[in-house]
Amino acid sequence: MKVLVLYTTLDGNTEAVAEAIAKKTDADVSKIVRVSKRHAYGIDRFRLWLEVTFKRHPGIFPFKHDPRDYDLIFIGTPVWFDRYNPVFDTLFEVIKIYDRKIALFSTGETDSQKALDKFAKKLQDSVILGRYHCIEPIFEDKDEDTEKILDEAATWAKGIADEAAKMIEQEEFERRKTIFKP
Ligand SMILES: Cc1cc2nc3c(=O)[nH]c(=O)nc-3n(C[C@H](O)[C@H](O)[C@H](O)COP(=O)(O)O)c2cc1C
Repeated sequence: MKVLVLYTTLDGNTEAVAEAIAKKTDADVSKIVRVSKRHAYGIDRFRLWLEVTFKRHPGIFPFKHDPRDYDLIFIGTPVWFDRYNPVFDTLFEVIKIYDRKIALFSTGETDSQKALDKFAKKLQDSVILGRYHCIEPIFEDKDEDTEKILDEAATWAKGIADEAAKMIEQEEFERRKTIFKP
């Protein structure tokens, strides 16, 4: 089974989760990087608010892996103004993701799941196997607290990957039954 972790990050929290998931599930990793660099604070914060509010699609650099080549895709976003990151709208404009097995994750400063709700709605033409949200793992004061969150994310991801593998096995079984019917 081919697994991809597709994510974006500004300050590294979502990246830390993405890496923990990729390590645990032996996945390829693609990071979506915006062309116009922005900070999380100051005037840039206002620019990002405009971008999100007016549903602008920021430019992104080409990335390594085509999600359509994968059986299971973990897609991860930082929460921005209760939405998923706008770089994904840029991506979805070019690449239609449908009929895949998908699991969604996000990081935010609160435990709000609103961004994941919108993400799930956007990706409703795929099978969504699960979702995971955590609060800013790398901003924890103690390393062990960061580790705890990342371990939890990795355990969640392993469960999803096991479930996806079983589904694929079952689908293959059904397919063969159809093909080899006497
Ligand atoms: C522009 C901007 C908007 C944000 N809006 C929210 C929000 O609405 N809700 C929330 O919980 N966190 C919000 N945050 C905090 C981030 O979601 C949080 O710090 C996240 O872990 C950042 O991920 P990253 O380090 O991978 O960039 C916002 C951060 C930025 C930069």
